[in-house]
Amino acid sequence: MLIYKSVNELQQFLTENKHKIIGFVPTMGALHQGHLSLIQASQQKADVTICSIFVNPIQFNKQEDLDNYPRNVGADVLKLESVNCEVLFLPSIEEMYPNKKYKNFEFGSLAEVMEGEHRPGHFNGVANVIERFFEIILPNYAFFGEKDFQQLAIVKALTKQLGLKTEIVGCPILREDSGLAMSSRNERLTVEQKKDASIIFEALSFIKNNYLKNNIAEHKSYFAKTISAKNMELEYIEFADGNTLQPIQNFNDTDYCVVFIAVHVGKVRLIDNVTIFN
Ligand code: PAJ
Repeated sequence: MLIYKSVNELQQFLTENKHKIIGFVPTMGALHQGHLSLIQASQQKADVTICSIFVNPIQFNKQEDLDNYPRNVGADVLKLESVNCEVLFLPSIEEMYPNKKYKNFEFGSLAEVMEGEHRPGHFNGVANVIERFFEIILPNYAFFGEKDFQQLAIVKALTKQLGLKTEIVGCPILREDSGLAMSSRNERLTVEQKKDASIIFEALSFIKNNYLKNNIAEHKSYFAKTISAKNMELEYIEFADGNTLQPIQNFNDTDYCVVFIAVHVGKVRLIDNVTIFN
């Protein structure tokens, strides 16, 4: 695998490969099978797949979360090589933000709910880093997981706003055998906490399979009770339209319903979502 740390080196490679279809998979490292599934999705469509690892400081709204974010580039390189990823871009903060100028994006109601509401500034940080990556790489395709469903919607809106030709491809959530959505943050859970956290997907699946039997308020209170019984803390549960991401109060309000949650397990914040119907 080719590893580039500077924008110049990467762009020289891109010039040499300008007739090839470029697929791009941005990550923050501590890679797991979910990330690797994005690499594999890219390899289906592109001639060359570029993965980036960059822990983007401006998308963290809590310093503690940034400090504790797992970092293990050595292991990540081996994982990327195991799926034959061609290029790894590993920039420094200086390469990414040479003049420390950040834009203020406007995504309207899309960024005002759920993660946007609970993590102020988060999506603006994501939009800044993705704009910079797209400026450097100008990929034909870029791949994002539905694990971060709202991020995927924001990136699609950003690409449209910027008038870029990059096609944004959403990829399904990969889960552990227990149902827990794979996440770099799972590395910070104890064995016991990981076991408890599997109740999240269990409860979301129960809601999906029984959604017509109760109203949204009842489903929310069932989820809240289930989470607190395992000593985890619910930050939010929201049922929303899968296109606009605006919360709904009744299932009749949409023909595409997704349930979104954020839960704290000890000091670790987990998010997940399940499509109820589409
Ligand atoms: P990170 O959390 O490392 O995730 C990188 C990509 O992997 C994202 O598109 C995310 O949705 C996807 N992903 C994570 N867990 C997944 C899972 N279990 N199944 C499928 N895909 C999964 O998301 C980010 O980094 C950053 O915000 C980034 C886009 C890189 C910008 O800094």
